[in-house]
Amino acid sequence: MGGPLLPGQATLGVMGGGQLGRMFVHAAQAQGYRTAVLDPDPQSPAGLVAHVHVQADYLDAAGLARLAEASDAITTEFENVPAQALATLAATRFVAPAGAAVAICQDRADEKAHFAASGVACAPHAVIRNAADLAAVPDDLLPGILKTARLGYDGKGQQRVKTRVELEAAWAALKGVPCVLEQMLPLKLELSVIVARGADGQVVQFPVQQNLHRDGILAVTEVPAPDVPAALQAEASASAARIAASMDYVGVLCVEFFLLQDGRLVVNEMAPRPHNSGHYTMDACDISQFDLQVRAMARLPLRTPRLHSPALMLNLLGDLWFDTADGRERTPAWDQVLALPGTYLHLYGKSEARRGRKMGHLNITAATAAEARTLAAQAAAILGLPA
Ligand SMILES: Nc1ncnc2c1ncn2[C@@H]1O[C@H](COP(=O)(O)OP(=O)(O)O)[C@@H](O)[C@H]1O
Ligand SMILES: [Mg+2]
Repeated sequence: MGGPLLPGQATLGVMGGGQLGRMFVHAAQAQGYRTAVLDPDPQSPAGLVAHVHVQADYLDAAGLARLAEASDAITTEFENVPAQALATLAATRFVAPAGAAVAICQDRADEKAHFAASGVACAPHAVIRNAADLAAVPDDLLPGILKTARLGYDGKGQQRVKTRVELEAAWAALKGVPCVLEQMLPLKLELSVIVARGADGQVVQFPVQQNLHRDGILAVTEVPAPDVPAALQAEASASAARIAASMDYVGVLCVEFFLLQDGRLVVNEMAPRPHNSGHYTMDACDISQFDLQVRAMARLPLRTPRLHSPALMLNLLGDLWFDTADGRERTPAWDQVLALPGTYLHLYGKSEARRGRKMGHLNITAATAAEARTLAAQAAAILGLPA
């Protein structure tokens, strides 16, 4: 594997050219690395800013060879990059996270098995791969949520079911693909923890993030988590570190949890990459999740992040680019938002706004959590976001 890849000398490669890749590229470049991105889209947000853009499909052998040739180490910015592609790259380059770890995160059934193996409780569930599995589902999993085992995100590929009849119809509507049925849990709130783990096993973590979703998409993250007791924050952090270590994970990993109304903590899912709920780290911490991904990949020492300001992150979806009254396209009033103290605007360079599309995020920092919340409410009002 060799020694660290030093800034100013090495090229860091990334599979995928979305906004996470773009912010990774920015962080790597700020530290003096050259960067390479593989993504088929000529206008991909990360491809537009990287030194090298390999415009190819994720399984294209020639494209993978070009990325490997250009890069000293390679990471991924989305979990649905074929694990096979990462395995191919790993034959000649240091790849972090490894394809095997990404493969676990790609499949909800494997993911839940990994949580159990790590000693972390998740929702009661059943894996449904065939009609016999469906018939054997215990009654106490209903009402529940049927989720496709693979390729689900932002609430897509999920259906809530109350009865066996609804369950059977939902599974049929999903064309009988492998699914996980989870018991519907009474949630109090949702939280996440971002861990970075080095090839030498060193683990550092960001503080617990409290997350609010709207229509299945992350809308707001707040740190420090206002409604999560300290003991539960410690439990979530310890669980996330164990989940990373038990798959020998290298890189940045986000683990999402539910806090139930009875006070129990339950792990939900994980993402083998920097995460939307960690975007506040760019402006509220002395090192960002993207900086730590660079360090983990370059095998540089990880540094424990310090939250220097309470923060909120507002996700900016494409809906904001359409007038609420007449539906006509508009540019949000950035000048007014940026007039507020402690606000940082991040736009991802996507040329076309579409409803539900992640266009950017706004970080809001202040000296106190109360102040940050007041500013966030003001920004939300200017943008036309729900309070
Ligand atoms: N077992 C459950 N009980 C109650 N709510 C759930 C459960 N599973 C998911 N949800 C809700 O649905 C949202 C999306 O589910 P999730 O498993 O996170 O899928 P995705 O991959 O689409 O983010 C969660 O953020 C949570 O609000
Ligand atoms: Mg989720």
